[in-house]
Amino acid sequence: MITRRGFVLGGAAAGTLALSPSAAGQMPRPVDTLPADAPVRHLSLTAAEMDVPLLGADKPVTRHFCAYNGTPLMRLRAPRGTRLRVDFTNALPSATTVHWHGVRVPYLSDGVAPITQEPIPAGASFAYDVPLPDPGFYFFHPHCDETGQVGRGLVALLLVDDPAEAKVPFDLEHVIVVKDWRLGEDGQFMEMFTNEGASTAGTFGTVRATNGSVVPPRIEAPAHGDVRVRAIVADSTRVIDFGCDTEEAAILACDGQAIPPILLDTAPDGIWRMGPAQRLDVHVRMPGPGAEVKIYDYRTAEPYLLTTLVAVDKGRKKRPFKPLALPIAKEVPLPDLKRAQRLDFLVQTAAGAIAVAPPLPPDDPLAKALIESVCVGDKTFWAINRNSWGAGADLRLPPPLDTLKDGQSYILSIANVTKHPHPMHLHGHIFRVLSSSRKKMPQYLADTVLVEPNETVEIAFKATSGNWVFHCHILEHMDSGLMGWFRIA
Ligand code: C2O
Ligand code: CU
Repeated sequence: MITRRGFVLGGAAAGTLALSPSAAGQMPRPVDTLPADAPVRHLSLTAAEMDVPLLGADKPVTRHFCAYNGTPLMRLRAPRGTRLRVDFTNALPSATTVHWHGVRVPYLSDGVAPITQEPIPAGASFAYDVPLPDPGFYFFHPHCDETGQVGRGLVALLLVDDPAEAKVPFDLEHVIVVKDWRLGEDGQFMEMFTNEGASTAGTFGTVRATNGSVVPPRIEAPAHGDVRVRAIVADSTRVIDFGCDTEEAAILACDGQAIPPILLDTAPDGIWRMGPAQRLDVHVRMPGPGAEVKIYDYRTAEPYLLTTLVAVDKGRKKRPFKPLALPIAKEVPLPDLKRAQRLDFLVQTAAGAIAVAPPLPPDDPLAKALIESVCVGDKTFWAINRNSWGAGADLRLPPPLDTLKDGQSYILSIANVTKHPHPMHLHGHIFRVLSSSRKKMPQYLADTVLVEPNETVEIAFKATSGNWVFHCHILEHMDSGLMGWFRIA
């Protein structure tokens, strides 16, 4: 019989931090990334279902859409250095958690059952401590039934502003959320997880949308002005080739971390490939009055229009294009490459790979932890180094992929020996993308990196104490085995 309850440590009940440091035994020490006197902002956050006319006003309304605070694809903004104290309430009919994607939080606020907390049952609450040490473009989403809940819309943006950015003279900021909807003819959500999809590229939505709308936005911007476009692939499955029909566009940041600008035109094929969870900041210079800039996903046979920027005369003069560089954040801990230890990982299919790793030793604080059947699927199609997260009916937490040392630098080599791309995400860290075996690319900081078939990508990071998962962000892949974890202490 499968137990539906996770583990309980120190008798903590739902609604409190499940793992208080004192009760945590040999659990890693949580690391606060802001000083204790950092300014605090209280946020009450509720996840609930609502009805949303996703297909348009004249079409049947979609029921059981999931949103935070009653706002589809909610956006939250805060200055760098702020601490969010989040009182979260789960008003959904099923268990959930909140994961702060890319944010360097103490791991007990990372939202991952069963290694940082228990799932939050329907009707229950949980307090998250979310320091925002680094400026950037983040998002948050559940980490329990993620395929189902994110599929039904449960994603929100978190923009962390650097005061120094305010000096960069953009005329306009435009956010593009790439997120399809998987709807039947009747406008109602269809099953998000399919065996066929989960074992291949993932199950796609049936209608495409930008910022929730099936009609791509048309945005007015000053002619000859400067627009900061901030794109995120919040879809569970789709990989896009981000590009636009002007030469005057430059990449400014990846996953919200500034890089010296790169002209989009000089990138291979003039596009930037982005998988689920990846973000991109781009500077677009507007053309003369009346002209338009069209931003596309060029990956599909017929390019999909994501947004049209329309130039309106505001008396601005034409001038040569020079990308507006963003300030580079100094707070992110950087790896020491000379002293880094190397670890090799293989992303593979589960067929023939399942090694069902030996369980954790009985005295391990997580020895009794179970992967919640309410949180993940019961199919196993993928593995990392022959281990799958939840191998079929075995719901024991697998042992960590490795035990790392707090403060030590590591180089992770990630080799994809499958036929599909995998956007690999490491929790709790912002890493440096070092190299790819298949393409030339600049080094940059990120929290998610796309690894293409037959490609090996190297990333490096300085390890921070905690239990952190490492997984593919194609959500059905994650739900069918493509996840492991590191214990860093
Ligand atoms: Cu946005 Cu573990 O994920
Ligand atoms: Cu994947």
